[in-house]
Amino acid sequence: MKTRITELFGIQHPIIQGGMHYVGYAEMAAAVSNAGGLGIITALTQPTPADLAKEIERCHGMTDKPFGVNLTILPMFKAPPYEEYMRVIVEGGVKIVETAGRSPEGFMPTLKANGIKVIHKCTSVRHSLKAERIGCDAVSVDGFECAGHPGEDDVPGLILLARAAEELKIPYVASGGMGNARSLVAALALGADGINMGTRFIATVEAPVHENVKKALVEADELATRLIMRPLRNTERVLSNAAVEKIREIEKEKGASVSIEDIYPLVAGTQNRKVLHNGEMDAAAWSCGMVAGLIHDIPTCKDLVERIVREAEEIIRKEIMPKFGM
Ligand SMILES: Cc1cc2nc3c(=O)[nH]c(=O)nc-3n(C[C@H](O)[C@H](O)[C@H](O)COP(=O)(O)O)c2cc1C
Repeated sequence: MKTRITELFGIQHPIIQGGMHYVGYAEMAAAVSNAGGLGIITALTQPTPADLAKEIERCHGMTDKPFGVNLTILPMFKAPPYEEYMRVIVEGGVKIVETAGRSPEGFMPTLKANGIKVIHKCTSVRHSLKAERIGCDAVSVDGFECAGHPGEDDVPGLILLARAAEELKIPYVASGGMGNARSLVAALALGADGINMGTRFIATVEAPVHENVKKALVEADELATRLIMRPLRNTERVLSNAAVEKIREIEKEKGASVSIEDIYPLVAGTQNRKVLHNGEMDAAAWSCGMVAGLIHDIPTCKDLVERIVREAEEIIRKEIMPKFGM
């Protein structure tokens, strides 16, 4: 396939693995990049900028294909040293950065001066247009179905992507709910030049997470996710478990007066690791998308990426074209 996204990033298939906290290690990113997609390391998963520098180095050792680094700018108890993380990204020779959360405007001069392509993840058309205005090369348009932070507008991908097609000049990928060949075909029809997947890539052989997590994704259906932190206007889509139900109880009980301190032990990153790395499935909330309903196996990244592209072509040729008499 050749799209504006494959051309922009120098990749074979228009399939990106979005940054994922405690999942986006070098192993994950290299496996996706070696499969012909674009793998992404998550900067803030590394405790310090020096650790990120080592992780980037490790990834260079595992693939000679392009890979990116995600820098997520979200409200946090203690702001990480973003400038320092950015410095090691530049010095590590990374040529693609995925930004998410707040606008990357302040980083754009550094990114552009170093020839780095920027894809910003947005959950609305207005933020996508701003990304375009400040010089981002592409956007990842993340619908309400997505794992993690869907924003507060609750616009599903079907509308959001078609709206993006009406407004955007820069290329965009469809994100949120993407999991198989039908997703890719639909994304292309909605004007996107590729897809971004998070949850689906966790259920792969190479994903550096506990087997229990992969099994949970195969077992979960599309009804298994919940939204938490709505009252804090920092909504997160997560897989339902004991911790999540506890959070929802606290949120219901406290109503509008709920604060992050009330639920922090159940949403903190350190707790989150207990699920992803130790397989303690009820220990904390962890991001998961509705696309879990489309996950039925645990393939290698190569098999997954190649299957999506191959079957997408089959769908277009055998199911869609005949309907037009072609
Ligand atoms: C476990 C997990 C952790 C994530 N952490 C981050 C993160 O730190 N930064 C970020 O920008 N997106 C994060 N995401 C969101 C993904 O990059 C991607 O946008 C999202 O998963 C797309 O929706 P999907 O899961 O339906 O494919 C995370 C997703 C998951 C599943």
